[in-house]
Amino acid sequence: MAKVRTLFYCSGCGFESARWLGRCPSCEAWNSFSEAPSAPKSSVARSAAARSAVAPIRLADVDDSNVARVSTGMSEFDTVLGGGIVPGSLTLIGGPPGAGKSTLLLQIAAALTQQFAVVYVCGEESAAQIKLRAARLSVKDDILVFPETNLRAVLDELERIKPRAVIVDSIQTVWLPESESYAGSVTQVRDCTQALMEFAKRTDCATFIVGHVTKDGSIAGPRLLEHLVDTVLYFEGEVNGEYRIVRAYKNRFGSVDEICVFAMQGDGLHQIPNPSELFLSGRKQRPSGSCVVASIVGSRPVLIEVQALVGETSYGTPRRLAANLDQARLAMILAVLERRVGMQLGNHDVYASVAGGLRVNEPAADLGIALAIASAFRNRPLGQDTAAFGELGLSGEVRSVTAGARRASEAKRLGFTTLFTPQSHEDIAQAIGAALG
Ligand code: TYD
Ligand code: MG
Repeated sequence: MAKVRTLFYCSGCGFESARWLGRCPSCEAWNSFSEAPSAPKSSVARSAAARSAVAPIRLADVDDSNVARVSTGMSEFDTVLGGGIVPGSLTLIGGPPGAGKSTLLLQIAAALTQQFAVVYVCGEESAAQIKLRAARLSVKDDILVFPETNLRAVLDELERIKPRAVIVDSIQTVWLPESESYAGSVTQVRDCTQALMEFAKRTDCATFIVGHVTKDGSIAGPRLLEHLVDTVLYFEGEVNGEYRIVRAYKNRFGSVDEICVFAMQGDGLHQIPNPSELFLSGRKQRPSGSCVVASIVGSRPVLIEVQALVGETSYGTPRRLAANLDQARLAMILAVLERRVGMQLGNHDVYASVAGGLRVNEPAADLGIALAIASAFRNRPLGQDTAAFGELGLSGEVRSVTAGARRASEAKRLGFTTLFTPQSHEDIAQAIGAALG
């Protein structure tokens, strides 16, 4: 009998090692290694290789008649995908449990079923549960549901049905018999994804897979999945609230960082076309410590509200906390405020966050964050019609950012007429002087 060799995998990133390691050298996670047989992966690769009989082809001769995008029936979601679903693409939708992954995909499946056959492979729930959800969403129920977890059986059936879209909910529940590891393990998840990718590319079937996300935000099992698929979308932010944000982290067919905002209601997810209004808290009067920032998310301008709270440290080292903002960026802005403006923040706790759960990483938010902190520190509100954008340099200068005109016009559209921009103010001390007197 052939000796079964085993390998060890990091459950965080899929790093392979011949022996067990306490800490993953790739993603630096502790105690994440588990053992799995190494032999089977070649059989999956072989069965895929056996079918491909392609030869190099002149670019001009490539048939692109099949790449017409298909609308999901939700224009905002189409934008996140880069303009609709691309036939033959493999899309990973990640998010924590309860985010709305199954809801969103069922709604999309219902919309697509009106045009062609769609198969919903439900490993996670029973067909009856899907039917209950469909009734709740009041969508047409002529979607083909397939309560099967053996992916080989699923693929054989798909060859027969020839659907133009397939949804696999979730990739952690399906397994391939030739891959000798348990469902949800790194090996299985990777092999199943590869088999689905091969099927999608060969048959031009648009394929969506659901992936669970662990608490620290990575797809359970392999982040490695992100490299295998064409598009990665994540549900971001709070799961408890009414609003859900879906963001494109990787997209071979569109721009990354594009977002789409949904409201989760009794009858499913409803897209919100103008998220700016949503992220600005409805209040008429903005208190001290709040600044509106004209940000660019993906390809469009979105207004967000940065909030800061500054208070004297009662004991020990001061706390600095950034929520939905980059912690290192906050530290840099605080240093600039101390050294270039002379603000004594050394003995103060500083909390800064973006209201509404949207994560903002762009440096263009620096000026707004600095103004919000200054406003909280001096306990004086900014003008109610004030919005800001601009990057801060270490010498306190306000640096120009991309798409200034579009940021400004979105701010004006929503009634923010006093703009703090790289054009209006040269450095942060000057801007704070003008904003807070
Ligand atoms: P679900 O789509 O099952 O989440 P996931 O597949 O990501 O785990 O459901 C998400 C949550 O949304 C669930 O707690 C119930 C709630 N929900 C609604 O509020 N309205 C609805 O119409 C549906 C279907 C679900
Ligand atoms: Mg689900």
